[in-house]
Amino acid sequence: MNKVSALYPGSFDPPTNGHLDLIERGAKIFEELVVGILRNSEKIPMFSLAERFEMLKTLTAHLKNVRIETFHGLMVEYAKSIEATCVLRGIRAVSDYEYELQMALMNRKLEPTLETVFMMPADKYSYVSSRLVREVAQAGGPVKGLVPEVVEQKLREKLEPAYKFHDEMQQVSSGNSGGKEIPTKKRKKKS
Ligand code: PNS
Repeated sequence: MNKVSALYPGSFDPPTNGHLDLIERGAKIFEELVVGILRNSEKIPMFSLAERFEMLKTLTAHLKNVRIETFHGLMVEYAKSIEATCVLRGIRAVSDYEYELQMALMNRKLEPTLETVFMMPADKYSYVSSRLVREVAQAGGPVKGLVPEVVEQKLREKLEPAYKFHDEMQQVSSGNSGGKEIPTKKRKKKS
């Protein structure tokens, strides 16, 4: 049988434990797995392309058959250029299915020789998405267990003020304001 090279495309903004789980599963069944980060000029990402590239490189350093690349334009054309014969995508829940099916069929129309292979990440990550991780982190919430530690650290660095504000508010609501004045809403005087 021929060597099967697969492309795992995505935005990875940021990479989550679900992504990593899928990469590890993919690395076991494909001879070569290229993680392709989309260079999307339409979306303003939280993490630059270079940051996402570095994070994914660090996270996959132990997987010798995994390579991190970036691409722009049509995914099928990029897959062809690197001689990938499969596209790997993750399906977490039924809600992912419709979008993924549509995308897989469009990609098949564009390039009939490219097969899309779906894999499921561990069920403990079935609710984890980059979008929700960003949302929680932007509000200073905990993302431990949802993203690898390097990503958690990067989120903390990037969103330092949000985490500081969240921690202060936590202290206030637990009655320990550390001697600081607690911000209160101005009340209207009763007439
Ligand atoms: O992780 P994401 O953001 O859901 O990944 C989406 C991605 C990058 C796989 C998809 O948007 C993509 O392939 N974009 C490249 C442009 C393209 O080929 N579009 C046609 C898709 S049917």
